[in-house]
Amino acid sequence: AMAADTNGGRPSRRHVLLFPLPYQGHINPMFRLAGVLHGRGFAITVFHTHFNAPDPARHPYYRFVPVADGTSGPASVAIEDVVAHIVAIGGACEAAFRDPLAAVLDEYSRDAVACLVADAHLLQAFQVAARLAVPTLALRTGSAASFACFAAYPMLCDKGYLPVQDSQLETPVAELPPYRVRDLMHIGKNSHEVTRESMARAVEAVRVSSGLILNTCDALERRELAGLRWDLAVPVFDVGPLHKFSPVGDSSLLCQDRTCLDWLDQWPPALVLYVSFGSLACMSSQDLDETAWGIAGSGVPFLWVVRPGLVRGCSGESGEASQLLPEGFEAATRGRGMVVAWAPQDEVLRHRAVGGFWTHNGWNSTAESICEGVPMLCRPYFGDQMGNARYVEHVWRVGLVLVGELERGSVEAAIRRLMTDGDGAEMRSRAGELKKAVTECTGKGGSSCVAIDKLVEHIMSLQK
Ligand code: UDX
Repeated sequence: AMAADTNGGRPSRRHVLLFPLPYQGHINPMFRLAGVLHGRGFAITVFHTHFNAPDPARHPYYRFVPVADGTSGPASVAIEDVVAHIVAIGGACEAAFRDPLAAVLDEYSRDAVACLVADAHLLQAFQVAARLAVPTLALRTGSAASFACFAAYPMLCDKGYLPVQDSQLETPVAELPPYRVRDLMHIGKNSHEVTRESMARAVEAVRVSSGLILNTCDALERRELAGLRWDLAVPVFDVGPLHKFSPVGDSSLLCQDRTCLDWLDQWPPALVLYVSFGSLACMSSQDLDETAWGIAGSGVPFLWVVRPGLVRGCSGESGEASQLLPEGFEAATRGRGMVVAWAPQDEVLRHRAVGGFWTHNGWNSTAESICEGVPMLCRPYFGDQMGNARYVEHVWRVGLVLVGELERGSVEAAIRRLMTDGDGAEMRSRAGELKKAVTECTGKGGSSCVAIDKLVEHIMSLQK
């Protein structure tokens, strides 16, 4: 295991241990970070749960170590159950992580292990590592603004902003502009306690770590990053958007249907609407129908990801995802639409034919869209998504939020506004500007590159 210790005159090769939270929106940025660190000469060891385990064959240069978390996955795809599952994984780590971590330390020799980078949602992993004297860094996969919201959670509860009350939705949160109550981090009406608990743990994980890694950049969140640096005693590394530095697509849990890229080739630039709600959001079959008929009525060409589990109560595993679509939809949109179960999203967004993205505003999707200059139709579902949508519409002004009940007429109008109206053209042009600004951050000498250099230095300095 020490064979790589001298590395062509570069500093001696060190091991970085990674522990992602086993959900797609968390796995992708962790693997992108792995790619960056591996490119800087670190050997990578990935700890993983059995639930949503990565495929080692797709990462031949990394070592994989299972952690017997003993959880069997969430009870359902309902977000409350997912949050409860995340809490359960953390709990299981307390006992299950110690032995595999100790075994790896023995095997590599302690001096060769630089640090553990764990998802901020895995507080117990930080505690176990501390007991074994392994330095830790926290990766928080959302925006800087959303982490500020985590940290402010107790204050937001004390001041009565939370739990969210329907009568207060439009009230501005003076302490956290530009958020209104409706934009605050929340999961569901009955999940206030579990959400509060989970926020507190993530903040604690960051405080006990030796640094916070954020998948964001100066061009997107300069003020928010400055605020976090002011509040936190640990250094903050704004190294994002990470997919710009590291090959993507190789950490997808579902098989990506690449035929849609060929399908996109037939369309002129910026004409196609890409529709995807990420890996977790789910909707009622009535909302699916309204979505479908709104898309059909808009007349725009579209590529739509209808993933297994998207529709509440239908596992989707029994057949084609497209079977969930309303009768007559295919005939009504023949020749101008494609439905897939899962797409190579970053490549789709990069395709010149794509001119708009109807998204749930998961942070990865939001950042991927921004990087390609694609304006967004925002329909957030839970957690940090409402806050991300607020930034898209109000701060960066590269999209519009679809509010209220999903109804085919308003869906149709919103799609037209994004894809064919003057409004949409303005958002598209601002999206182009924002893309340029972010590309400067990730380009040579840009702030994200500098942050990666600093992160590497920091990791090298952590040892012992
Ligand atoms: C979740 C939360 O929803 C999100 O708000 C939080 O910030 C992270 O965890 P998820 O819902 O999966 O993530 O959304 P998102 O953060 O957008 O991540 C989805 C990832 O899956 C993206 O990297 C996207 O490129 C990828 N994806 C999505 C595909 O590869 N194919 C698809 O068809 C759709």
